[in-house]
Amino acid sequence: MNATQEQLKIKFEQAMVAAFGDEYATVDPILVPAGNPKFGDYQANVALSLSKKLGQQPRAIASAIVEKLDVSQICEPPEIAGPGFINLRLKTAYLQAQLQAIYPDSRLGVPQAKTPQQEIVDFSSPNIAKEMHVGHLRSTIIGDSIARILEFRGHDVLRLNHVGDWGTQFGMLIAYLREVYPQALTTANALDIGDLVSFYRQAKQRFDADETFQETARQEVVQLQAGAADTLHAWKLLCEQSRKEFQVIYDLLDIHLNERGESFYNPLLPAIVEDLANSGLLVEDQGAKVVFLEGYTNREGEPLPLIVQKTDGGYNYATTDLAALRYRIQQDAAKRIIYVTDAGQSNHFAQFFQVARKAGWIPDDVELVHVPFGLVLGEDGKRIKTRAGESVRLRDLLDEAIIRARTDLEQRLQEDNRTETAEFIANVAQIIGISAVKYADLSQNRTSNYIFSYNKMLDLKGNTAPYMLYAYARIQGISRKGGINFEELGNNAQVILEHETEFALAKYLLQLGEVVSNVEQDLLPNRLCEYLYELSKKFNVFYDRTHGVRVLDAEEPQRTSRLVLCDLTARTLKLGLSLLGIQVLERM
Ligand code: ARG
Repeated sequence: MNATQEQLKIKFEQAMVAAFGDEYATVDPILVPAGNPKFGDYQANVALSLSKKLGQQPRAIASAIVEKLDVSQICEPPEIAGPGFINLRLKTAYLQAQLQAIYPDSRLGVPQAKTPQQEIVDFSSPNIAKEMHVGHLRSTIIGDSIARILEFRGHDVLRLNHVGDWGTQFGMLIAYLREVYPQALTTANALDIGDLVSFYRQAKQRFDADETFQETARQEVVQLQAGAADTLHAWKLLCEQSRKEFQVIYDLLDIHLNERGESFYNPLLPAIVEDLANSGLLVEDQGAKVVFLEGYTNREGEPLPLIVQKTDGGYNYATTDLAALRYRIQQDAAKRIIYVTDAGQSNHFAQFFQVARKAGWIPDDVELVHVPFGLVLGEDGKRIKTRAGESVRLRDLLDEAIIRARTDLEQRLQEDNRTETAEFIANVAQIIGISAVKYADLSQNRTSNYIFSYNKMLDLKGNTAPYMLYAYARIQGISRKGGINFEELGNNAQVILEHETEFALAKYLLQLGEVVSNVEQDLLPNRLCEYLYELSKKFNVFYDRTHGVRVLDAEEPQRTSRLVLCDLTARTLKLGLSLLGIQVLERM
C-alpha cells in the first residue's frame, strides 16, 4: 500500500464508523487501483462486501459512506458507480504536492522499513574446485538484488556465501595434489594449478581408476578431519585457488559477499546430532543417524529419512545446513533467513526446515525462506551448453555479452557518425553487456526457466537493460541539449500537471515505494523490472513529439515543471536499476 492508499484507508474507516458505528472501525475498505483511468485512480469495493451484513443495497451503503467521507484534501468528490463501487480521482493539487515532496528526497519517497531487522541472504554459494555454473550465476544475480532492496529499506543485511568448501571430495583432491604438485605442499607460496575444473576432472579420473589411490584419498579425509597441518595446508591452497577464480566473476558483476563456507560450521556438527538425539527425534536406521520426515515418502510409501550422520560417521549437506541455521539464529540474531538456490533444492530446504522446527530451534519471530529459481536454458530450450556440448564457463558467457554489446555499440556509432574514445567504448560495452545479463535474469519471474538469448537481452527495444539504460541516457541528453543542470532546478521547483501524459507519468512516479515494499515481501525482483519498464514507456509517450508535450521549447512555468518530471524519471530509473545491481550511463 502506498502513502495515498494508507491515508484514504484511514478516511474510509472514519466514515464507516460515522455511518454504521464503532464495530465498523476495522472493516477493510477494499481499496484497489482503478482498472481504467476513465473511472479515476482508486476504487473502493467495501459497499458490496457489507451488503449482506447490513441488509442493504450496496449502492445505498456506498452513498451512506460517501456522505461521511472527508477526502476533499486528496480527491475530487467521490462518485458511486455500477452496483456500488466508490470511485476516487486524485486531485491535481494533491498529485503536484506529492511530486514536489519527493523531488528533493534522495529516496524518492520510498520509506525506510518501520521495523528494520537482521536479515541474512545466503546466495551464490558455489563449490570449491568445481565450476561456478549458470545456476550459481542466477543465484548471484537474484540474491544480490534482494540484498540491495533489503539494505535500501534499512535492514541490516548479512550477505553470506555458503561455499561448498568441505566434504569427502577433498580427500581425492588433496591426494592428487600431493602427487602432481608435491612442491606446493612444502612451500608457503600460493599455488597456480591453472584451471581447477580440469584439475578436479583429472583427480576424479585417477580416483575412479585406482583403488590404492582411493584408499589414500580416504586417509586424507581422515587427516583433514583431524586437522593435520599439511593436509589443512593443501586444503587451503585449493580453496584459495577457487576463491581467486570466483572473485573474477564477482568483480565483473560488482558483487560483494562474505564468505562463510561449509567448513565454518564443521565444529558444530556433532552437537547437531547430539541435540537431535536428546530431543528424541534421532533414529538409527541401518547404521545411519536419521530423522524421519513428515510428508515425504519413498516409492513404497514408507516415510523418508533425513540422514544427518552417515554410517561411516560422515555428515551431510543437510547437517551443515542445520548447524548453519542454528548459528544464524543464535549468533547472527537473524530474523529472516533467505536462501537463493535453484528450485531443484526445494525439498532439501523444506526438509531441514522441518527438522529444525520439530527440534524447536526456530523461534516464532524467525522466518525461513527458500527463494527458488528455474533453469537457464539455451535458445534450443535445452540446458545451456557450448557448441561442443560442454557446460558454459561463466567467464566466457559474460565476456561474450560484453563483446556483443561492443559490436552493437560500434555499429551504432558508425551509423550516427559519432567518434568516441576507446575508453568510452570499453566502458559502455562492459556496462551494457553485464547489465543485459543481469536484467535478462531479473526481469523473468524467477520461478520459471528462462532462455538465455544474447540477441534478446541486448535488444535496444523491449524489456531489456539497454532499453532502460537508453531511456536514462536520453533524459541526460535533454539536460545536455538544454544546458540545464537538473540539480539546479531547485527543491521548490513547481510541478504543474495538465496534459494526460503528464498525469500518467506523475502517478506512476509516485508508485516506486509500493513496488519496493512488494519486492521486499515477495522477493520477486521482476516486479521492479516491470515497473521500470512501464515507467520508461510512460516517459517515452510523455516526451513524444506527437502524443506528448514539448519540454525544452515549452513556455514557463510548464518548462520547469516538465524538466522536473524528466529528472524524477531519470532518478527513479537510476535508483531502481541500482537496486537490481545495474549501473546507469550518462551517455551510451
Ligand atoms: N553449494 C550449493 C550448491 O552449489 C548451494 C548452497 C546453498 N546454500 C545453502 N545454505 N544450502 O548447490
